[in-house]
Amino acid sequence: MSNHNHVCGVEHAKFLDNIVRRLIHHPRRLFGPYIKPGDTVLDIGCGPGTFITGLAHIVGAHGKVIAIDLQEEMLNLARKKAEFAGVANRVEFHQCTPESLGINIQADFIMTIYMVHEAPEPLRLVDQVGALLKNGGYYYLSEPAFHVSKAQYREAVDRCMKNGLTLVKQCGIVSRTAVFRK
Ligand SMILES: C[S@@+](CC[C@H](N)C(=O)[O-])C[C@H]1O[C@@H](n2cnc3c(N)ncnc32)[C@H](O)[C@@H]1O
Repeated sequence: MSNHNHVCGVEHAKFLDNIVRRLIHHPRRLFGPYIKPGDTVLDIGCGPGTFITGLAHIVGAHGKVIAIDLQEEMLNLARKKAEFAGVANRVEFHQCTPESLGINIQADFIMTIYMVHEAPEPLRLVDQVGALLKNGGYYYLSEPAFHVSKAQYREAVDRCMKNGLTLVKQCGIVSRTAVFRK
């Protein structure tokens, strides 16, 4: 899977995080079946924090959301959003580099929404996800069909399975989405 060498800039934040998107990509409906209260969740490529509040509510007071992004400006927007919603104490913010996520934890749930194709080496990113996921944990991969071909998406899915993840669900029209269990 080659990348598009284009990282979505902060000027696109409003296109990512808005009421229409939140209705279509409703966090509890999409991710709720895979997350339990108390879980540790990684939102890799969190952008402006589109899903931060929803995730923080799902993991509850004893859970943790780790929001990771390359761009400080995106993390600042996500932080403001969590603070406004009163859930910032459940969220950690982590700035990574294009090559490495730079964290060493084991997560119950990891999501990459519309970001894998932006990584310099998308398959290496998928490898890092596999290593950060607990046994029994879920990985939610979603890529935009308008940017990522079926073949590119398939490469990422195959790589996950090669890394020992089991495909539990595939869906999507505007998005190409797969859910895996380790
Ligand atoms: C299209 S936005 C999607 C944001 C959010 N996931 C959403 O769906 O609203 C992609 C985000 O991934 C981030 N990103 C791109 N490459 C990355 C990488 N290698 N590691 C972490 N974040 C990355 C970008 O900075 C951007 O905020």
